[in-house]
Amino acid sequence: MVERFTNVQRQVKIQSIVQYELAEINYLGQLYHPNLVKLIGYCLEDDHRLLVYEFMPKGSLENHLFRRASYFQPLSWNLRMKVALDAAKGLEYLHSDKAKVIYRDFKASNILLDSNYRAKLSDFGLAKDGPTGSKSHVSTRIMGTYGYAAPEYMATGHLTARSDVYSFGVVLLEMLSGRRAIDKNRPSKEHNLVEWARPYLSSKRRIFQVMDARIQGQYSSSDALKAANLAIQCLSTEPKYRPNMEAVVKALEQLHNSNDNDGSKGSRGENPRRVNRSSSNGPKYHRKNVKEVSNGKPASYAGPYISPLRT
Ligand SMILES: Nc1ncnc2c1ncn2[C@@H]1O[C@H](COP(=O)(O)OP(=O)(O)OP(=O)(O)O)[C@@H](O)[C@H]1O
Ligand SMILES: [Mg+2]
Repeated sequence: MVERFTNVQRQVKIQSIVQYELAEINYLGQLYHPNLVKLIGYCLEDDHRLLVYEFMPKGSLENHLFRRASYFQPLSWNLRMKVALDAAKGLEYLHSDKAKVIYRDFKASNILLDSNYRAKLSDFGLAKDGPTGSKSHVSTRIMGTYGYAAPEYMATGHLTARSDVYSFGVVLLEMLSGRRAIDKNRPSKEHNLVEWARPYLSSKRRIFQVMDARIQGQYSSSDALKAANLAIQCLSTEPKYRPNMEAVVKALEQLHNSNDNDGSKGSRGENPRRVNRSSSNGPKYHRKNVKEVSNGKPASYAGPYISPLRT
């Protein structure tokens, strides 16, 4: 179907695109960290707009977690923990005094993987400078992606670094469960991953009903519980109870090291309780992806004008 716009709509759309690109250039052009994608160059000349990023050969975490094509093998537990740690380090750097940036769009499709599965954050079009002086938050138009945005931010537009921590918790939960943050293909009680998983996460007995069946046997019960516990903390409804990213990195480093030190945790490792999880299989591409949210309802927003290289 051909999209038709009036001149005013076209103008607004182009302005949003340009603002998005300028934010991307402004942030990615100045921030350097091994866990942020590099912006190699750009051209903004009249209607000619081009942003060139370093190429991330393994594509996005989203593809590896949810695409069922044979090219995308399910990521192992160890790789999931490594990717979580890398992405957490990227966010930790953004929140640090060196950068003081709120990323605002932390989600599986924005975490890209290089040939060694090192994870890097991409897409800084929604990034914002963090609050300065005595201010506790930045007030913004509510933008982001359904299922990932923190509840208090959705309700008030008040943005803090802890909003990113909530989104991190959602992605960690996606990694543990192999389920999308929002999946309309599931029974209605399971559409929203966080709402569905919350009661299971703190229970030693029930946690395995959340875990991705495709990585069954690759982790110890205690590591699964530690990771789930970290996810619960990040997903606290009250922002002040969420850990900061420094604490998240420390917790994930411990998990990562525990994998390194325990050779028994390969595919032959301790086998947690078996659960029939066949419902986690099958293609599910119904993520509600909006860039702007107002009054809890999606509003149209032009995504990036130029999609970087797609896998
Ligand atoms: N530098 C890159 N190297 C390799 N693949 C990339 C790169 N940048 C993006 N991609 C691929 O293109 C896909 C689409 O990215 P894009 O940012 O345009 O959309 P998205 O993240 O799915 O949604 P949104 O528009 O909300 O950010 C990514 O998920 C990834 O698979
Ligand atoms: Mg993206």
